[in-house]
Amino acid sequence: MITLALSKGRIFEETLPLLRAAGIEVLEDPEKSRKLILTTNQPDVRVLVVRATDVPTYVQYGGADLGITGKDTLIEHAADWGGSTSAAGLYQPLDLNIAKCRISVAVRADFDYASAVKQGSRLKVATKYVAIAREFFATKGVHVDLIKLYGSMELAPLVGLSDAIVDLVSTGNTLKANHLVEVEHIMDISSQLVVNQAALKLKQASIRRIIDAFASAVGK
Ligand code: PRP
Repeated sequence: MITLALSKGRIFEETLPLLRAAGIEVLEDPEKSRKLILTTNQPDVRVLVVRATDVPTYVQYGGADLGITGKDTLIEHAADWGGSTSAAGLYQPLDLNIAKCRISVAVRADFDYASAVKQGSRLKVATKYVAIAREFFATKGVHVDLIKLYGSMELAPLVGLSDAIVDLVSTGNTLKANHLVEVEHIMDISSQLVVNQAALKLKQASIRRIIDAFASAVGK
């Protein structure tokens, strides 16, 4: 049995064509069903529906053999393991180039970020991406107090919880709707294939077949 961990939404939708390229059709729709284990047209392949931030954990501990997760999630997960995905037992063979977005710093339109940085002010930064934010501001030499949030980061500067946020930006509509502006582009994000290192040894042929099909589907 090969088990693939996916999160609902954009990653799930954009993974379906890759699975198809590997001859795998998911037989149930996670948006319609409450089932967490989805069957496929291949009796020995199943899909787990998990929270995006839990994908690396399922793969690391062997609850799933493979998973697809954003680079952001992977960096944050790896930070608990000395910053290395391989130390977390994860093999990261392929950038799938799907669910692309960026991770940025944003502030209220009336906040003068450039001056605050120039004056060496201590910035309050709200984010779900603590490791990415810490590394970014440390490299820039900006002192920050990080405030960990789990969602709706855009609210924090609006109610005075923080001066800035570090968050994912795709279309930029969420920032615009909340009168925030992007002031730094930290990195581009896309989804990565991660594989449990032990599973790769034990189920070499089946897992390789999937990796190769995904690789040719994304032109690598
Ligand atoms: C992400 C991110 C922003 C939004 C950006 O949230 O946190 O809120 O998408 O997209 P946009 O630039 O196209 O408006 P998501 O919907 O993934 O949910 P989350 O808050 O649970 O991360």
